[in-house]
Amino acid sequence: MYPLQETLLSIIIVIIVYFIFEWITRDRKIRIINKIPGPIRVPILGTIYKPLLFPREELFKRAKVDIREYGPILKTWLGSTPVVHLFEPKDIELILNNSVQITKSWLYDTARPWLGDGLLTSTGQKWFTHRKLITPTFHFTILENFMEIFVEKSKLLVGNLQNKANQEVFDLYPYITHCTLDIICETAMGVEINAMNNPKNEYVKNVSDITKATFDRLMKPWLKSDFIYYNTNQGKRYKKYLSNLHGFTTKVIKGRKEKLITKSKTDQSNESTSSEPDVIGGKVRKAFLDLLLESSINLTDMELREEVDTFMFEGHDTTTAGTCWSLFLLGNHPDIQEEVFREITTVFEESNDGETLTINDLGKLKMLERCVKEALRLFPSVPVIGRKLTTDVKLENYLLPADCTINLEIFITHHDKNIYPDPEKFDPDRFLPENIKNRHPYAYIPFSAGPRNCIGQKFAMFEEKTILAYILKHYKVTAIESQETVKPMMELILRPKNGLLVKLEPRKS
Ligand code: HEM
Repeated sequence: MYPLQETLLSIIIVIIVYFIFEWITRDRKIRIINKIPGPIRVPILGTIYKPLLFPREELFKRAKVDIREYGPILKTWLGSTPVVHLFEPKDIELILNNSVQITKSWLYDTARPWLGDGLLTSTGQKWFTHRKLITPTFHFTILENFMEIFVEKSKLLVGNLQNKANQEVFDLYPYITHCTLDIICETAMGVEINAMNNPKNEYVKNVSDITKATFDRLMKPWLKSDFIYYNTNQGKRYKKYLSNLHGFTTKVIKGRKEKLITKSKTDQSNESTSSEPDVIGGKVRKAFLDLLLESSINLTDMELREEVDTFMFEGHDTTTAGTCWSLFLLGNHPDIQEEVFREITTVFEESNDGETLTINDLGKLKMLERCVKEALRLFPSVPVIGRKLTTDVKLENYLLPADCTINLEIFITHHDKNIYPDPEKFDPDRFLPENIKNRHPYAYIPFSAGPRNCIGQKFAMFEEKTILAYILKHYKVTAIESQETVKPMMELILRPKNGLLVKLEPRKS
């Protein structure tokens, strides 16, 4: 045989072997998955005909019933892709508490153009190294410094709400969004965008637009291909948001880097050994970005941008939703709100100047904390998380094959009547220590759990409690919608379809 023929033959054999292997492994995966119960699959659509039959806002209410129809595990088909849904705490633990199963599913792909391989979306060694690097930036003492920002922005928010506190019905949701955006911009990047006073700010608008566009693309599988998507008007708009957002973060990183170099030169010329903290917005503070720039591992500009963008994405929509659902529930339960109000008043009275809370003060707001936790149970900001299995996982009665997409159904677990009797009832006492101790540790996972849990959970709890304490100290909140009429809607995070409609009444000072 001639060398050329030999080479061609080898290539053909390699290709054939590859396809046979693909076919066998796919076949194995499908054979195993088919043993898992689930609704009837139709060609092309798979099982997504059900979601197509109902409006999006009804899906959550239906999901609670539908998913349970099939037992403790369920399989669905998104077109030709199988997805296994888990909601039993012991099954969820097997996935989340496994240091091998840390790869996110394709559900996260639509966020990748914006977030790249940041902490939320990356896997393997890159995720491990970055998680180790970023973890100290969420240390208690650093969060203590951020407390000043939480307080300052909460006071501003309370001031801005003054002209709304006249029994008029209005949507509080955008006010909270702008407050949390101001907080995350200052804590993550060290810049003040002042969204509360300037909601038309381009960066603010782009963050909101790109979040909506990302979810919209996820809901339209025919836009999965980049070629098709970027040729649609929607895709072209998306590209514009992306370029603006990346441009903004890149500019901030460049500015902070230059500042750091100038500072180090000044320090050297002053022969100073102690490093002076930076000044942000006229005050002495360090942002996450500064801490990353000062760390021993040199991240590239691209890696820095990915991490900052990830904080921006994960760090404001989630806390906005959490804060708003807490207000919604307290606004529906005036008796519980009064109890929280009394607790807040006492803690403010005992605080340093009667109006500025510290992290220690937040620790005394036990009832408020239970309300925030219960709100995150009933309405978890992140209702589902996805994984792609890298190896087989054996559950008690089923095998989950490698390469399988898994949805961990936090929302469904949190509404399980066997775990939470009368599950729709807002009952903060479920989080009294004596009631927690009898529950499975994976029965309550709003911040996920295991090695890939939410790195920002303490930040989130401090931030939410601060904003809530200030609002509730100054205003009595009445919610307009009830738990029966409100429409929770999945849009990357779980939010009320009509926003947070409330009436505010000033509290007598
Ligand atoms: C109420 C507020 C929040 C909730 C409910 C929440 C929930 C979650 C959940 C469920 C995950 C796991 C996602 C997954 O496995 O796919 C996660 C991851 C993450 N969260 Fe949060 N989060 C909140 C606030 C924050 C804040 C304030 C920040 C940053 C300042 C943050 C940063 C992150 C990051 C970087 C990850 C990825 C961690 C990793 O994979 O190593 N989150 N969050």
